[in-house]
Amino acid sequence: MKAIAGCLLLVLCSAVECSWATWECKEAPRLYSIRQIDAGMGQVVAATKYGRPYQLSGRYWYSLGLSRLKHVSVGPAGAWGCDSSNKVYKLVGGNWKVVNGQTLQQVDAGGDGQVVGIAPTTNDTYCQTAKYAGSYYGEGTLAWTGLTKSLVYVSCGKMYGCWGLDTKNRTFVAKKVNSTTCVTEGWTLVDGPAMQMIEVSTDGEVFGVTSDGKVFQRLGITDSLREGSGWVKIPMCMPISHLTYDLNHLWVVTTSGWLLQCTQEEAAPPAPPA
Ligand SMILES: *[C@@H]1O[C@H](CO)[C@@H](O)[C@H](O)[C@H]1NC(C)=O
Ligand SMILES: *[C@@H]1O[C@H](CO)[C@@H](O)[C@H](O)[C@H]1NC(C)=O
Ligand SMILES: *[C@@H]1O[C@H](CO)[C@@H](O)[C@H](O)[C@H]1NC(C)=O
Repeated sequence: MKAIAGCLLLVLCSAVECSWATWECKEAPRLYSIRQIDAGMGQVVAATKYGRPYQLSGRYWYSLGLSRLKHVSVGPAGAWGCDSSNKVYKLVGGNWKVVNGQTLQQVDAGGDGQVVGIAPTTNDTYCQTAKYAGSYYGEGTLAWTGLTKSLVYVSCGKMYGCWGLDTKNRTFVAKKVNSTTCVTEGWTLVDGPAMQMIEVSTDGEVFGVTSDGKVFQRLGITDSLREGSGWVKIPMCMPISHLTYDLNHLWVVTTSGWLLQCTQEEAAPPAPPA
């Protein structure tokens, strides 16, 4: 505890690396054995390495439904997850209902109502349209649309498309994914370090965790430049294994299992001379 307290104070951007703003991190409510986290629309959900889904309420984590899930996601399409045998689930009436149809090893509900995910073994990427993703309540079978790319991780925002990692852990962006039809105009390679995960927040911010646990934010993303203009490193005092972002809260999971909550403040102008 002592070590982390001392360390947290140092989790600030250096003036050189981001002179326009700084991130300040503090310890978030602890969830033992946290493995994965996702925030969207003000809510925060997580899964532990024992496959238990949780949601954050105030200062405490509470179990979310009764199923065992390895990965959970929350966004405009609701709360979705998948279990260790890659069955897909949606939160319906406070508990998890199996979504019949496609098996997926990772799902993301952060898009504009659509849900995306990656099939086991083939790594084929699939999309569920906003209409069916939003209204599914556990009956019937959903047919998924291919997103024409093999990926190992995928995440969508509401505004500027979806980002993913291919099997070589290179970053790609699908600048346009139609949430009504799940039709994409193809994927564009984004230069940068090899990533182990990528996160697009519902409000369109993009963050990546490199293979060696460093955190980068993609800057310069606009409607007309959806791939953005460059990566900027966000210094962290410990290696990171997972992160998520929503509404000015960056949540990072360290490889040693701590959860930090970082917020960004506009850099104060230099104090005038006395
Ligand atoms: C799927 O991705 C995994 C890495 O996560 C890789 O080992 C495997 O070869 C990929 N499968 C195909 C068919 O590309
Ligand atoms: C999505 O596709 C539908 C059907 O082709 C089209 O009417 C709609 O305008 C598209 N939406 C966007 C945002 O391009
Ligand atoms: C590549 O990405 C996958 C999926 O997120 C991750 O499990 C794996 O550790 C990554 N590999 C490297 C070398 O970063």
